[in-house]
This record gives sequence, structure tokens and C-alpha cells, in this order.
Amino acid sequence: MDTLLRDGINWVGYVDWTVRDFHGYRTERGSTYNSYLVEDEKIALIDTVKASYVERLLDNISTRVKLEDVSYVVCNHAEPDHSGGLARVMAACSNAELVCDEKCLKVLSSYHDASAWKVRIVKDGDSISLGKRTLAFLETPMVHWPESMFTYIPEEKLLFSMDAFGQHYASAHRFDDQESIEVIMQEAKTYYANIVMLYGKQIAKLLGRAADIEIEMVAPSHGVIWRSQIGTILAAYKEWSQCKVRPKVLVIYDTMWQSTEKMAQAILAGASRPGIDTKLLNVRASNSTVIATEVLDAAAIAVGSPTLNMTIMPKVVEILAYLKGLRPAGKAGFAFGSYGWGQNGPKEVDTYLQAMKFEMLRDPLCAKFVPTAETLEECRKAGELLADKAAGR
Ligand code: FEO
Repeated sequence: MDTLLRDGINWVGYVDWTVRDFHGYRTERGSTYNSYLVEDEKIALIDTVKASYVERLLDNISTRVKLEDVSYVVCNHAEPDHSGGLARVMAACSNAELVCDEKCLKVLSSYHDASAWKVRIVKDGDSISLGKRTLAFLETPMVHWPESMFTYIPEEKLLFSMDAFGQHYASAHRFDDQESIEVIMQEAKTYYANIVMLYGKQIAKLLGRAADIEIEMVAPSHGVIWRSQIGTILAAYKEWSQCKVRPKVLVIYDTMWQSTEKMAQAILAGASRPGIDTKLLNVRASNSTVIATEVLDAAAIAVGSPTLNMTIMPKVVEILAYLKGLRPAGKAGFAFGSYGWGQNGPKEVDTYLQAMKFEMLRDPLCAKFVPTAETLEECRKAGELLADKAAGR
């Protein structure tokens, strides 16, 4: 595997080919936990890996340097996929100082006994000289946790960007130009939608700061390293952080006896016209990871649920609760669904959409038991409202 980023700077992380569930995120293409070794007059390790893979990390480091020669272990982010192996690394690299910000140490101290560690607290703007090269630190709160920071090597124009610009993507290759750009951009989009979407404001601020530094390589904590397509990923992050929508309509639903499904199909038919991308997403044929990714750039969305036990169907609740946490901005839409003796299903969907600050295009569209021809016509007309909105009318 080609692990060389720059002369004396290597990837030493772990490729997780088999992970398919990352705290609920469906990682259909696996993931990587990226660690980087910077060999200079002093040696620094940038981030560690999940606890279960720490021996592989130590093996990778040992093929290049003696563990006791590592001077610094930088922790950019305390989430356990990057810090789970830290205690073992600090014990093995017995002369190393942990380098992190103050908030990070507090979080790390919750997960580990940090009392024996030598620690150097850094803050935004601080730097450490390794000899020919410098580690400079930029605090990046809420990208992805409050304690997060980036590490930058100005002499190499190399940014270690932690979760930002990452992808859950296992590969034998480490660089963007060794993979299909369509595939890695799709995984970067999925990652943004499911991990970073609610921090769009912080991302926008960060992109402003990144514009002030020279960058020739971006090395995130997951997936491939950006060296040929930096402009592509930065432009995509700019769009995503602004919640830019496309002329795209989603109809998301569950159904019991196909009544709500008939409504969904009629809404979709009403929304279908040239120039509008339409998608029908049955929540039991899809999953929350895929749906959140589709929602990211959709302009208009209808969500349907029949009434089951006087409430919403469980898979629809799961999706709505997940989306509510991710806070997709700038969406318009409405609720719909069939019912027998209580309209709670579609009405509770409406409440969720309002809580997400959707622009509501109409009241909940309801059908008693089975939609009549008139109701299906009303569904088609409601679909037209979605298409009008998506077209910017
Ligand atoms: Fe990859 Fe926020 O951890």
C-alpha cells in the first residue's frame, strides 16, 4: 500500500473493511481510522485508532521508528474511533507527550486514566517545532465535537483535518486520485449528511479560515487523502454547509395496506416533470443513512405515515427523529397518510416537519382507510406544489 504523503510523513492507520454499522450509520463500504506519522528531528503521531485496532497501529509505527522515539502524540478529536487506542499508545510510546487542547483532555480523562500521561495543552494558533517542520494547531469547535482541532504543517501545506472532509470508505488506496471520484464524493456526501450536517455554520466559518492558509493536501481521519481533488471537496463542503438545494423532490413514507403507498405514488406523479429529480423512498426498503443523504440537497419533501396504534409507524418515527437531530435547513413540504379512526399518524408527521422548520406547503393530507379518486387527485396536486417549490416558483 502506498502510504507516503510527503517525504517522512506516512499513513499508519487501520483499514476497517468489515464495519457496517457505525453507531447507526450504515457504512456499506467500510471505513478507515487514519493515523499519520511525521518523522523529523522529533517524531509525532497524529491521532490514533479504535481500541480494537491499536496493536495494528503500533505495528505500523514500529516498522518505521522505535516507539520510545515518538516525542508527540497529537489528539485532534477525542471521539473513541480516534482515541480508543490512546491509552495503549501512551503506554507504548513511553517518552511521548500527549498534545491536545484543554477541552480534549477533559473528554479524554472521562474515557481513560490520564493521570500518568505527560500532557502539553495547546490552543488555537499555538505551534510545536519538530525540526524542519512545524505542527500548527487550529481549534475547530463542533467539527465534530466541542474539543476538535486541526493540525497543519505549513512547510508541507498539509492539513490534518480530523473528521472534516472524511468518508467512511475502506480501500487499499490512500489517495483520492487512486479511486473513482464519483464514489469517494458520494461517500463524502453521505458522511457530511450523517455526521456534519447540523454543524453547517461551524463548517462555513472553518472554510473561511481555511481560505487563509495554503493547502496542497488534506488528510482526514477517515477515508482517502485529498491531493488531486481538493477544490472539488472544498466546493462541495461550501455548498453543503450553505444547505444549497437542488430541484429535487422526495416522497418518504411507510405503509400498512398500501393506502399511504397509493398516496405516495400519486404525490410522486404530481411532482414529476422535466428538470425535477423525484425519488420515492419507502423507509423499510431504505435506511436512515441513505435518506439523510438524499435529504441534504432536496428542496421539497413529503413524508407519509398511516396511523398505527394512534401514532406514527415506528420506522417513520425513527427517520424523523434522526433527521430532526441533523437539522436539515431550507426544506419545504407536507405530511400525508391514511387512517382508520384517528388522524394521528399524518398529524404527528406534520408536527415533526414543523419542528424541523419546514416551510409547510399545505395541511396534512389524509385518507380514511383507502384513498378515493378525489383524494388521489388531491395528492397529485400536492405533488405539483412540491415540484413548483423545487423549481423555485
Ligand atoms: Fe471519526 Fe467524530 O469521529
